[in-house]
Order: sequence, then structure tokens, then C-alpha cells
Amino acid sequence: MRIYVFLCLMCWVRIGYLNYPSETNGVSRNLETNRTCREFTKLNAMGSLRDLFFPKVKTILLMYSRDNVNCAEPLFEPNNSLNNHFNLSKKTIWIVHGYRPLGSVPVWLHKLSKTILKQEDVNLIVVDWNLGATTLIYNRAVKNTRIVAYSLSKSIFILLDHGASLDNFHFIGMSLGAHISGFVGKIFRGQLGRITGLDPAGPKFSGKPSNSRLDFTDAKFVDVIHSDASGLGILQPLGHIDFYPNGGKQQPGCPTSIFSGTSYIKCDHQRAIYLFLAAFETNCNFVSFPCRSYKDYQGGLCVDCGTLYKDSCPRLGNQAKLWREGLNKRTEGWPLRTIAYLDTSSEHPFCTYYFVISIVALNETMRNGSISFSLLNRLGESEYPKLYMKSKPFDKLREVKILAQFASDIENVSCIYMTYFHYSNTRCSTCQYRVQSLKLKSLTYPERPPFCKYDFVLKERARIELQPDACKAQKV
Ligand SMILES: *[C@@H]1O[C@H](CO)[C@@H](O)[C@H](O)[C@H]1NC(C)=O
Ligand SMILES: *[C@@H]1O[C@H](CO)[C@@H](O)[C@H](O)[C@H]1NC(C)=O
Ligand SMILES: *[C@@H]1O[C@H](CO)[C@@H](O)[C@H](O)[C@H]1NC(C)=O
Ligand SMILES: *[C@@H]1O[C@H](CO)[C@@H](O)[C@H](O)[C@H]1NC(C)=O
Ligand SMILES: *[C@@H]1O[C@H](CO)[C@@H](O)[C@H](O)[C@H]1NC(C)=O
Repeated sequence: MRIYVFLCLMCWVRIGYLNYPSETNGVSRNLETNRTCREFTKLNAMGSLRDLFFPKVKTILLMYSRDNVNCAEPLFEPNNSLNNHFNLSKKTIWIVHGYRPLGSVPVWLHKLSKTILKQEDVNLIVVDWNLGATTLIYNRAVKNTRIVAYSLSKSIFILLDHGASLDNFHFIGMSLGAHISGFVGKIFRGQLGRITGLDPAGPKFSGKPSNSRLDFTDAKFVDVIHSDASGLGILQPLGHIDFYPNGGKQQPGCPTSIFSGTSYIKCDHQRAIYLFLAAFETNCNFVSFPCRSYKDYQGGLCVDCGTLYKDSCPRLGNQAKLWREGLNKRTEGWPLRTIAYLDTSSEHPFCTYYFVISIVALNETMRNGSISFSLLNRLGESEYPKLYMKSKPFDKLREVKILAQFASDIENVSCIYMTYFHYSNTRCSTCQYRVQSLKLKSLTYPERPPFCKYDFVLKERARIELQPDACKAQKV
């Protein structure tokens, strides 16, 4: 039976059912210039089958700019001159996709290129290596990454001859595409301006030496988002800065059971792209917190990134480039590489708003208890945060910081509600717990002034209302 199916497949291939798409399979036309628009190579499961017998790698460059947002053109003309829309003095963004087991066009590709061009006036090149990425044999796609990188380097050498500069190149690589970007970077000895790795592929790359995967030496600035580190992505940090949203393994809103079909396999992995995209198209600040571990971050131990770099924590997405400037400024002793954590919401645009609440207690006995709090926004609605580490002990006269995350932004806090819970079986309605100071500060918008309250008393399990005041100047 199996032999029969195999033979049948062979004749199909022979008589051309599994044809390659022709080189110019574009159907649309740019009406102004009357040029045919290039389109991303569309394949399907037949393409994957064909690859079993006749493997082929092909790298096609689709060039977009603000003048041809909807119509990809070739980077070079047939006479080898550079496309007129390519402006040598502008930045060039390269988008490199990953493994395509069934040959489909990446669902996020169109959105990503459109969004980038809307926000930034750049030359944009989509690297279409669908012939090479479409295979049922993952290892084959892995091997092809080197071939694609080599082929890209040839185009880059031509661009350099035309006067382009490596420093102006930003590679955005998804999964295997992240490693392709790394390999290109190695060919140019780390002189590319930036590589962004979107959940770089883990299988076959995890634990490999730096010359066999994306590495921070591949570009002047390498930022990486890890969203499926325990699955299709890689856990180990690779860049100058590595972001681990929601801990980097399991993303909120993604199915946790295999019965959800393919989205169970892809959702966490693709989240890196959707976060990068959201950071581009919304005004959310995806602030993150450099920290040793996700646990320490949740414990509020890493909320002070302000002293190291301007007044801001590093931000995931395109804004990560701000951190690059910070890198140069850092003197000896600062770590060159950073691991940063953040949490996101479960749906587009994934924004959340961070606050840190700092409390200095006067009573030793407050140690065995926890607080909960909520804020009243200008509209008179209560906003309840996700609190990390509710049970943090309040030591006498020691500042305790609690990280809090809200689903919506609260710019002007008119009231803070606070309740204290003591961990004892017997409720003490007369007990009073003095608090020396409370400070509430937005971490998402660090430029906003904080809110403070001084010298007040908490009662057990009784919600109190605090009208915040301006903060006193900090003693240095
Ligand atoms: C190359 O071809 C393009 C368009 O086909 C044309 O605009 C350009 O002038 C040509 N360049 C040379 C050097 O012939
Ligand atoms: C190329 O870009 C630069 C800077 O953005 C701009 O000043 C120049 O006019 C552009 N050239 C063309 C031919 O569009
Ligand atoms: C906290 O509770 C523990 C027992 O759970 C007790 O030994 C300790 O004295 C308590 N500390 C304070 C400050 O009340
Ligand atoms: C918050 O207060 C400031 C100053 O009073 C005001 O300019 C701003 O519009 C307020 N923001 C909102 C969202 O109410
Ligand atoms: C907290 O301290 C205040 C005075 O410093 C005292 O009056 C109060 O009883 C203390 N509360 C508890 C629960 O020990």
C-alpha cells in the first residue's frame, strides 16, 4: 500500500502536478508604472511533497517603499541597476520569515510590512525563501538557512557597491529567519546595524556554539523576543537584550490543549511577532524590567531600571533601539547583555500598565499580612490591578515594593483604596497598623509625577480611602 502511494506520488510529480510556481507568479499590476507586482511565492502541501523528492532553495527579494506599499518590485532591474524606489540614504528593513511546513504565505507578513511603512519611511525588503522553507523535513529547512544567508549576502554586496551602508540595515527575522539574519551578520562581521530576532527557532539551534545560531556579535545591536522558549523557540539569551514576555514560555490567550488544533502549536511562537507589531502600531509602551529571573521580577525586585538608563526601563519592540544608545554609554562594570521580563495582556494590542507601590511600615507586626489596593480613575471607576507577590512581608521601616499591573491606563489617580489582611485566625478589629509612607509610581510612563501619602493607619480588613498628595522631595 505504502509503495503504491509512493509510486503514485512519483507519477504526479513526473507529469507536473507539483509544478513550481513560475518565477513571476504575480497577478497584480502597478497601474502608474504598468509594472507587474511581485508576489510572495504561494505554495501548498503539494509543494511540501515535491520538496521530498526535488528539494530546491530560492531566495526572492520583494522591495517595498512608501511609493509602492502595495506592489512589490524587484530590488534590482534586469540590467543590474538599483530599483528607483530604493533610496540609499534611508534605513532598510529586511523581513525574513521562518519554517513553512505547508508552504502557505505567513499570515502576519502583509500586516507587518504595511505597518512598518506607515510608521517609518524606509526601504523594506521581504525575503521570500518559501522554496527552501517549505518542506516536511525540518532539518532540511535548517540547512537551507545558510544557503539563504549566503544568497542574501550576494545582494547586499551589490547594494554596498551602490553606496548602501550596513549600519542602515535592520533585519527582522522570525524563527529560522532570526538565525538567517544572524548568519548574514556573521558574513559581514557584525557590522549590520540591528537584528531583531522574533522567537528565534530552538530545535537544532539550542545549545549550539555562537557560530551556528543568532548571536549578539552578529550586529551592532541585537534584540530578541522569546515567546515560546519551551517549544519552537529558544530559551537561552542570544542578543544584547533578550525580552521574555510573560516569562517567555506560555503566552496568555494561547490554547493550552492540543485539541485546539494548529493554533496550539503556533500561537506562543507567533506571539513574538504580534507583540512586535503591536509595539509598532499602538502607542503602548511595552516597558520591561532587566532582572535575573521572572520570579525576582514578579517579586518587585527589579523595578528600578531608572538609574541605569535615562529614566526608563527598556522597551520591547522597535523602541528597544533606545536601549542601544544606553549600551554605548555604559561604562565598564555594567553588563553588556541584558535579560528583561514583562507581562502582557492576552489580546491585541496586548498593552498593560505598570505601577510600583512602595510602602514603609512602622509596625513590626505588619510583617505577617498582605495588602490589596485599587485606584479610582477620573471617571469615578475603580481599577483593580494584578498584584505580584501579595504576601510580601512588610518589615518595620524597610521599604517594600510591590509591582502592580492594570488593564487600562490611569493617568490621574483621584483616590487609592487600600485594605490590609493579617494572617491570623482571630480578627483583631482594634489593631492598627501605621504606615509611614506610600508612593505610587507609573513605570509605563516614568515621566509622570508619582502619588504619595504619608503617615496613615490601616485597620484589619477594613478598606480605607486615601486621597493622594504630591510627593516630598526624596532625601539623597
Ligand atoms: C535599467 O533599467 C531601468 C528600468 O528598466 C531603467 O530605468 C534604467 O535607466 C536602466 N539603467 C541603465 C544603466 O541602463
Ligand atoms: C531620499 O531620502 C532622503 C532622506 O530621507 C531625501 O532627502 C531624498 O529626497 C530622497 N531621495 C529621493 C530620490 O527620493
Ligand atoms: C509572624 O507569624 C509567625 C508564625 O506564623 C510568628 O512566629 C511571628 O512572631 C509573627 N511575626 C510577627 C512580627 O508578628
Ligand atoms: C490629568 O491631569 C492633567 C493635569 O491636571 C491634565 O492635563 C490631563 O488631561 C489629565 N488626564 C486625564 C486623562 O484626565
Ligand atoms: C502599631 O504601632 C502603633 C504605634 O506605633 C501602636 O499604637 C499600634 O498598637 C501598633 N499596632 C499593632 C497591631 O501592633
